[in-house]
Amino acid sequence: MVQQTLEVVKATELKEKPDPATLKFGRQFSDHMFMMDYSAVDGWHQPRVVPYQPLELDPSAMVFHYGQSVFEGLKAYRSADGNILLFRPEENFRRLNESCDRLCIPQVNEEAMLEYLKELVKLDKDWVPSEVGTSLYIRPFIISTEPTLDVSPARAYTLMIILSPVGSFYKGGIDPVGIFVEDEYTRSAPGGTGYAKTAGNYSGAYKAQERASTHGKAQVLWLDGVEKKYIEEVGSMNVFFKINGEIHTPALSGSILDGITRKSVIELLESNGMNVRQRQISMDELIAANEAGSLQEVFGTGTAAVISPVGRLEYKGQDYVINGSEMGETARWLHETLVGIQTGEQEDPFGWTIV
Ligand code: COI
Repeated sequence: MVQQTLEVVKATELKEKPDPATLKFGRQFSDHMFMMDYSAVDGWHQPRVVPYQPLELDPSAMVFHYGQSVFEGLKAYRSADGNILLFRPEENFRRLNESCDRLCIPQVNEEAMLEYLKELVKLDKDWVPSEVGTSLYIRPFIISTEPTLDVSPARAYTLMIILSPVGSFYKGGIDPVGIFVEDEYTRSAPGGTGYAKTAGNYSGAYKAQERASTHGKAQVLWLDGVEKKYIEEVGSMNVFFKINGEIHTPALSGSILDGITRKSVIELLESNGMNVRQRQISMDELIAANEAGSLQEVFGTGTAAVISPVGRLEYKGQDYVINGSEMGETARWLHETLVGIQTGEQEDPFGWTIV
């Protein structure tokens, strides 16, 4: 019988914690990690928390060749009373399974995963920073480990969770960023993997990101993969627009990630009496709204950055100013409210946080 209960092997030497003032995204990792393996015979088995350590993998491990790998991102926050709060973790494990399904990776037990995560975070609780703007970023991920060059779903996988204390995702904190509207490269297309959190979705975006950088822009605004007409996402985030006092966001079309921050933003706005229209939004419409003075705000939403306002955009060689260097009032309110709920500073009427 294979081991199914959580085994915990504690690190004998603990690492020095980083200075919270110098935290960069995803550079330092805590003392422990979670691991669990899959084999065709035993299914997912041997859940364990072990000291953070390098992996030993065969060079033919399938993940290196065909990229059968999915991941998640969520955060733990330290509240003023010293508790540690997880934000909607069950949503991440639900989405992890959706991503698994898309890449033919065997699904995991979501309830068990949440319990394992709690044990890991409890053990490394001293790694959850308490300074304003900081949190412990949690990265669950699965890789295919079977040593073969066969082009087919692997029969062996490893799931891991690593923890990284983080500050602001962008160098400029929450100052509005410039974006480059990408009308050549596409992130995803109908029937593709856009809705899933697969490793390849992110590396496939690097080329466009490089182009945006050469134009002095921090992020790419992605258009649909068919007509290059409708807006999909911004960088690795979902995108929202405030036009004439109303909030709009691209509808989930299959090529857009079902963001947990996106969902939370919609629920927050709606519970405060604001209507959020989920629909197709074209670039032409956006430019026209900006020229008419009715485009009031543009912001991205994601786990890493939470809310990231957009101040300028470049489209077909022309620069458009939206909010300049100011964060719009809706983005500001959403940021304060979401971070307030996440850190326990504000009441959580939705039951989103788990102690
Ligand atoms: C997120 O903000 O949710 C992301 O997916 C960004 C991550 C790839 C760093």
